[in-house]
Amino acid sequence: MSRGAPRRVERPGEPDGPRVERTERVWRVRSLAAAQQVLRARHATTQAGFTAEAIPKGYLTHHPILMSDGPMHDEQRRKVARFFAPVVVTKRYETRMEECADRLLDDAGPEITLDELALHYTVEVTAEVVGLTAAPPKKMARRLVSFFNQPPFDITKPGLGRTNLQWARAAFNGLLPIARFHLSDARPAIRARRKSPQDDIISHLIAEDYSDVEILIECVTYGTAGMVTTREFICMAALHLLGDDALRERYLVAGQKERHAILGEIIRLEPVVGHLYRRVQEPIEVTDRGETCTMAPGDLVDIFVRPANADPDAVGEDPLRLCPHRDTAAGVNEAGLSFGDGAHKCPGQPLAILESDVLLTRLLRRRPRILREPDVGWDDLIAGYWLRGFRLRIDG
Ligand code: HEM
Repeated sequence: MSRGAPRRVERPGEPDGPRVERTERVWRVRSLAAAQQVLRARHATTQAGFTAEAIPKGYLTHHPILMSDGPMHDEQRRKVARFFAPVVVTKRYETRMEECADRLLDDAGPEITLDELALHYTVEVTAEVVGLTAAPPKKMARRLVSFFNQPPFDITKPGLGRTNLQWARAAFNGLLPIARFHLSDARPAIRARRKSPQDDIISHLIAEDYSDVEILIECVTYGTAGMVTTREFICMAALHLLGDDALRERYLVAGQKERHAILGEIIRLEPVVGHLYRRVQEPIEVTDRGETCTMAPGDLVDIFVRPANADPDAVGEDPLRLCPHRDTAAGVNEAGLSFGDGAHKCPGQPLAILESDVLLTRLLRRRPRILREPDVGWDDLIAGYWLRGFRLRIDG
């Protein structure tokens, strides 16, 4: 068991306790067991994260998967599961990933800005799964990241705590990139697949009778849910692996299963999505360390993923140390809640881990050294970190 460095980033002003607390209609949950009970309370909650409640959905027949709930959501997930099963991901995409990682690393030359390279890589890989292959990946990457240029907000406050001016800016900053993404990426991909269907998500949505607007929204969901998060994780994993000689050497000689366990432990410690939110629709009884509380309809639940992933009841002793293969409690994913749990659990977990591993093994084999550690910032939409300006050099 490797015992590496603790967390590399901490979000300022986020207390680690208490385990479950309530202020007015907002529950703050930092216990992993309590969080699981909320996330697994089937059909008793609805999605309240990612500004879901502020997005008008009345005119859509098919709600976006991330923001849909109940039996329609279960059905949507069942149907796309075939694209994300671990065997399918390996069989269909691994060779493409390897080819893409080698090409991007070769083209980058001796000095690499890893956050840029990781963006282009994750966009290219996810684009393949979704079917967004009409435009060059680097150009589409630029359009996708521009969605994140949004004024700050706080989901626990009415109107997301934004002023009218901030709402106007949000609409302007959001609609222009969507229009560009629609014209350059989504629309040509949809047209091509209406003529000649492929084995990808856009073709599946066309077969399910989704309208162009509904497919566009789903493409943005997959784009931001898949590409942007995986990009940040690759940089964070590289930061840990390059900063810990013993861990890196182990990673380089380990088999795939062990490498994936190391990545699972890094993402447990450094979750990219820092908060999950749910609106309670039916009363939920939640028990933590023998104490039971009832969450009432209308309450908002704010799950703090960082402290929950470091809950010693769930992940054992020394929760802030990096220890792959740690003994977690029954029913606890090795990545903690970093990919969520229950009805909205991330279907892309096997894809994200395989994808990260393929790039990281190829990068580390080239023995890079850090020229500049990345700047760290925090994003409201995923309530998580971003790492920028991570410069590496490969000598010889
Ligand atoms: C390191 C990378 C990733 C992280 C940390 C991540 C994290 C998450 C989390 C926490 C959720 C649950 C949100 C909630 O419960 O409110 C989620 C949902 C989702 N993720 Fe991922 N994800 C990653 C990669 C991917 C990839 C590669 C894809 C696919 C291309 C993907 C597609 C989705 C989709 C479609 C959902 C919505 C599922 C639903 O609501 O039913 N994710 N992701």
